[in-house]
Amino acid sequence: MEIETAPLSAYGKASIAPSPVNRMTAAFAADFRDDLDINLGVGYVNENTIPRALIEEALHEVLANPSQYRVALNYGGPTGSPNLIQSIRRFHLEHRIGGLTEDVLRRNAIIVGPNGASSLLEAAARLIAPGIVITSDPTYYIYCNLLERVGFEICAVPEDAHGLDTDRLEARLRQLGDRRRDIRFFYVVTVNNPTCTLLANQRRERLVEIATRLSRDLGRQVPVLFDKAYENLIHDPTVERPLSGLLYDQLGIVYEIGTLSKILAPALRIGYLIGPPGPLLGAIVQKTSDSGFSAPLITQEIASYLLDHYVQQQIDKVNAGYRQKAAKTRQWIDERLGDALADCKGGQAGFYFYLTLDGIETHERSAFFRFLSRTTGREEADGPPGAKKARVVYIPGEFCVHPRGELVEQGKRQLRVSYGFEDLPRIGRAIGLMREAVQCARGSS
Ligand SMILES: Cc1ncc(COP(=O)(O)O)c(C=O)c1O
Repeated sequence: MEIETAPLSAYGKASIAPSPVNRMTAAFAADFRDDLDINLGVGYVNENTIPRALIEEALHEVLANPSQYRVALNYGGPTGSPNLIQSIRRFHLEHRIGGLTEDVLRRNAIIVGPNGASSLLEAAARLIAPGIVITSDPTYYIYCNLLERVGFEICAVPEDAHGLDTDRLEARLRQLGDRRRDIRFFYVVTVNNPTCTLLANQRRERLVEIATRLSRDLGRQVPVLFDKAYENLIHDPTVERPLSGLLYDQLGIVYEIGTLSKILAPALRIGYLIGPPGPLLGAIVQKTSDSGFSAPLITQEIASYLLDHYVQQQIDKVNAGYRQKAAKTRQWIDERLGDALADCKGGQAGFYFYLTLDGIETHERSAFFRFLSRTTGREEADGPPGAKKARVVYIPGEFCVHPRGELVEQGKRQLRVSYGFEDLPRIGRAIGLMREAVQCARGSS
C-alpha cells in the first residue's frame, strides 16, 4: 500500500518550497569558494566587529559568579534573564536611546525572545490573527515572505527619502475602504532593509498617530511594530538622533523590537521587545516558552555582562568600521558604476547600499546577474567548467520589492549590495566586476 506523506498545515504547505532568497543563497552556498567568490548578498555582520576576546572574558565572569549569574547553563525563564532585562533597561536609559525615559519604560515591559529579533517577529506573525499588514516598499523580504506563508496579506507602501511615505499610506487607507477592518498591524523597519533609509522622527510620530486613529475608528488595537535591527548602527554623525515610537503611544499599541546581533554577535541570538503589557505580550512570552523555554541563558548572561561593561566602546568601534567601509564603497560605486546608476540609497546607517541601475536589469534571468554568477554559458565570460571565474553574490531588487506592489518594474533594475561581511579590497574587486557586468549587459542588449 502506498503511504502518503504527513498532512501539512496551510503554513506547512506554504513552506515546502524555499523562499526565492533562500533558494538563491542555498544555490550559491553549495559551491561557494571562500577564497575566490565575493558575497555582497548576505546580511552577515563583519567578523572583525565581533568582540571575541570580550565574549571570552564575559563567559569566564558569568561562570565565575554564580551568585549574580544564577544557573547560567540551565534552562531560563520565558520572559528573559532578569540580569539581561536590567542591562537592556540601563543601556537605553544611560545612553538615552530613542529618548526613552524612566516613565516610558515603567509603562512598558522588556522581554527577550528565544532566538533573536527574528523569533519575536515570528511570534507576532503566529499570534496575531491573519489579515492585512501595512509595511514599506521595498520590504524586509524575509519577514514579509513569512507573513504571507502564515496567511497575511501585505500592503506595501513605497518609501521616500524619509521612510514609509505617510501621505501615500493615508491614500491607501482611503482606497481600502471597508477592508481597513482587516488591517491587523503595521510593521516598519526604522533603518530599512534593503535600502537603509532612515525613518524620520516626524514619520514615526505620524505612523503612530495614523495607527492610533485607525484603532479608535475600528474599536480595537492596531499595533505598530517598529523593527530597530540597525538602529544602533547609525554611523553618519549628521543624522538626527532617532526617537522611540513609544514616546508617542497613547493607546498601548507600540512595540519596538531590537537585537544585539549587529553590535555584538548574531550567534548570541539575543533579540528583545519593549512594549505594553497585555494579551499580545503575554502570548509572545508563552510562544517563547513553546519554542524552547528561553534564549540560551548563557548567551543572555554574556550579553548582559557586555552591555554593562563595554557597550559604548563596542558600538563606537563597530560604527567607525562601517563608516569607513560605507565611504569607500560609495566612492567605488560612483567611480565604477556612476554612468550606469540612476539612484543609490544607504550609506548613513546599517551596511547596505540599494542601487537602481539605469536601463540595466538585475534579476536572476538578466545578463548582469548571469555575468556575475558565471552562468552566461559562454566560457570566455564564465571561465572553464570546474574553474569558474570569481562570482559575486548580491540580492536582486526583484526579491525586495513587493511582487504585487507599485515598485515591481523598478525592482527589476535594483540590487542590494552589502558592505557588512566582506573586507574592503574584496568589495572593491566585486564592484569592478559589476562594472564588467554592466558592459556585458549593454553588449547583449
Ligand atoms: C530588518 C531586520 N530585522 C530583524 C533581523 C534579525 O535579527 P536577529 O539576528 O536578532 O534575529 C534582521 C537581520 O538581518 C533584519 O535585517
